[in-house]
Amino acid sequence: MQFFLDTANIEAIKKYAAWGVVDGVTTNPSLISKEGVSLEKRIKEILEVVDGPISTEVIAADYEGMLEEARKYAKWHKNIYVKVPITQDGLRACKTLSAEGVNVNVTLIFSAGQALLAAKAGATVVSPFIGRLDDICQDGMELIAEIAQIFGNYDFKTKILVASIRHPRHVIDAARLGASIATVPPEVFDLLIKHPLTDIGLKKFLEDWEKVKDLK
Ligand code: E4P
Repeated sequence: MQFFLDTANIEAIKKYAAWGVVDGVTTNPSLISKEGVSLEKRIKEILEVVDGPISTEVIAADYEGMLEEARKYAKWHKNIYVKVPITQDGLRACKTLSAEGVNVNVTLIFSAGQALLAAKAGATVVSPFIGRLDDICQDGMELIAEIAQIFGNYDFKTKILVASIRHPRHVIDAARLGASIATVPPEVFDLLIKHPLTDIGLKKFLEDWEKVKDLK
């Protein structure tokens, strides 16, 4: 399973990349807007830190505009994955860009039907937003199970990038379902590594060691 970082914050990206478990980064317009720097500047900074897929989302809502932005982003680096929303224009753009060899991340996926269309259009990855489904009392993880079954049935090469992750259980359940990628917010990485019994165990080991460390 690959882990991507779901943030545009460069300090967080440097911090978690240093753990050695970050394979890529996902951004979106909301994440970029928190940073107070231009999209291009921030994406180029991220490309310097993480050598893996960096998702960069188009702002245009129309097919031609999406293509123009996507081709510009794709020229920045081979690791750019262009994010397009699952709309009629987004689907068309996905088909065209994929045929040109651009890696496309089809985003804002909330149904298996949307994921199936994106896979048919050649998406490299689809991003189902599980947390936002949970937020409205729908089972986000059930969507991952459905997409995984459908992609498996037809041997689609499109990967499932589990997005809108809210807590470590989402990561574990996505892994149990065999999702290729989870994009993990920084705070969820902190929760993933932490366990109170680890802290208690380590404290006790160090206290016990203090008692004997000077023995010859
Ligand atoms: C990443 O690709 C998505 O844009 C992100 O995971 C959405 O997360 P949110 O639902 O917490 O905004």
